[in-house]
Amino acid sequence: MGEIRVGLVGYGFMGRAHSNAYRQVPFYFPELESKPVLKVLCERREEALKAAAAVMAWEDTETDFDALIARDDIDLIDIVTPNNVHVEMAIKAAQAGKHVLCEKPLAMNLAEAKQALAAVEAAGVVHMVCHNYRRAPAVALAKQMLEEGLLGTIYHWRSQYLQDWMIDPEKPAVWRVQKATAGSGALGDLLAHSADLALWLVGDIERVCCDMETFVKERPPLGDIDAMLGAGAGAGEKLKVDVDDCVVALARFANGAVGTLEATRFAPGHRNYNFFEINGSKGSIRFKFERMNELEYYNVEDPVGRQGFRTIQVTEDVHPFLGLPDGGGRYWPPGHIIGYEHTFINTVADLMVGIQKGESPAPTFADAVKTQAVLEACEGSAYAGGWEEVESFQS
Ligand SMILES: NC(=O)c1ccc[n+]([C@@H]2O[C@H](COP(=O)([O-])OP(=O)(O)OC[C@H]3O[C@@H](n4cnc5c(N)ncnc54)[C@H](O)[C@@H]3O)[C@@H](O)[C@H]2O)c1
Repeated sequence: MGEIRVGLVGYGFMGRAHSNAYRQVPFYFPELESKPVLKVLCERREEALKAAAAVMAWEDTETDFDALIARDDIDLIDIVTPNNVHVEMAIKAAQAGKHVLCEKPLAMNLAEAKQALAAVEAAGVVHMVCHNYRRAPAVALAKQMLEEGLLGTIYHWRSQYLQDWMIDPEKPAVWRVQKATAGSGALGDLLAHSADLALWLVGDIERVCCDMETFVKERPPLGDIDAMLGAGAGAGEKLKVDVDDCVVALARFANGAVGTLEATRFAPGHRNYNFFEINGSKGSIRFKFERMNELEYYNVEDPVGRQGFRTIQVTEDVHPFLGLPDGGGRYWPPGHIIGYEHTFINTVADLMVGIQKGESPAPTFADAVKTQAVLEACEGSAYAGGWEEVESFQS
C-alpha cells in the first residue's frame, strides 16, 4: 500500500476533525491503495502543538509553515487555519509541489479564490475544499435521487444554516467575527456550505438578492486575536465586529429554480441546524444535519390518501459510502448510526483516491471559486441593495 504523507497546519476544531479522519480512514476504507501518514502537525502555539501531536500521534511538528512545505517528506498539505491565510498557504504549498486540501471558505474573496485555483492548476497538484456535508451519506443519496430524476423539474432550493453560539454579547471577539481574519461572518462560515450544496444539487446560481445584519457590533477582545491582528485594543475597550451575524438571500438558478438561503449565528436553540429542502415536479427531499442519518422524501405519485413524507434511514450497505466494495457494511450494521466525524473520514477517503489517480475530487478549487462568486454577490447585494449577478465561471 502506498503512503500519502500529510502535513496539517492549524490545530483547533478542524485540526482535530481532520486528524481523526486521517487516523481512521485505513480502518474503514481497507480498499484504499494509498493510506495517509500523519507526518507533521504545524501550529504557531508550540505548547498546544506538542500536546496535540502527542494525542493524535503525529510523527513530527513544525511551528513554521515555510519549514513545513520545504520538507521533502510531505505529499499533502491540509490547511485548517483561519480563513485569512488559506490562499497564501495554498499557493505556497502548490508551488512546492504538494497536493492541497483546504478548509472552507477557500478564500477571503473571489479574486483570492481565483489566484488559488490558478496556482494549483499551474502546479498540477490535486486540490480539494473540505465541504464535508456533501459526504454525509444522506446528502449523497439526495444527489443520487436527483440524478435519477426522481424529483423531476426542480422548482425550489430552501436552506437554513442556523447556529446560536454568538448570542451572548460578552462572548469575545474570536477570529470568526473579525473581517481581517474571517473575511465574512455567517456568510463564509455557514452559508458557504449551503451554497456549495445548492450548486452541487440544483446547479449554477445566476443572481442573488441578499440582506445581512450585525446584531452585536462590538465584543470584548481576546488576547490571541489581538496578537494575530495587531489590533491592540486597550484595557476595557471592545473590538468592533465587522462581519455579518446573519445573512438571508433569495437566489435564481440557471435552470429556473428559485431559492432561499439563510444563515445565522443568532438562532437560540439551533446548535448546528444545517437544513435544506428541494421541491420538484415529482416530489421533494429534505435533510437536516442534526438527524444526519435520515433523508425525507415525498413522492407525488403515491396514492392520494397515503401521501406524506417518508423518512429513509440512510444506514444500508447500498447507500453512498456505507457499503464495502466486496459487500457488507463499511461502518456498522443498518440502523447503527454514524456521526459528524464520518463526513470527514469519507472526505479524506475520496481525497486519497484522488491523489492516487491524480484527479482532484469535488469540490475542487474550481468548485470553490463558484461558491465564492455566490458569496461575493451576496455581499455586493447586501451593501448596494437589490439583485446582484453572480460572476459566471467555467472550470
Ligand atoms: N468543514 C466544516 O464544517 C468546518 C467547521 C469549522 C471550521 N471550518 C473551517 O476550518 C478552518 C479552521 O477553523 P477552526 O474551527 O478549526 O478554527 P480554530 O480557531 O479552532 O483553529 C484554528 C487553528 O489555526 C491556528 N492558526 C492560526 N493561524 C495560523 C498560522 N498562521 N499558522 C499556523 N496555525 C495557525 C490557530 O492557532 C488554531 O489552532 C476555518 O477556515 C473554518 O472556516 C470548517
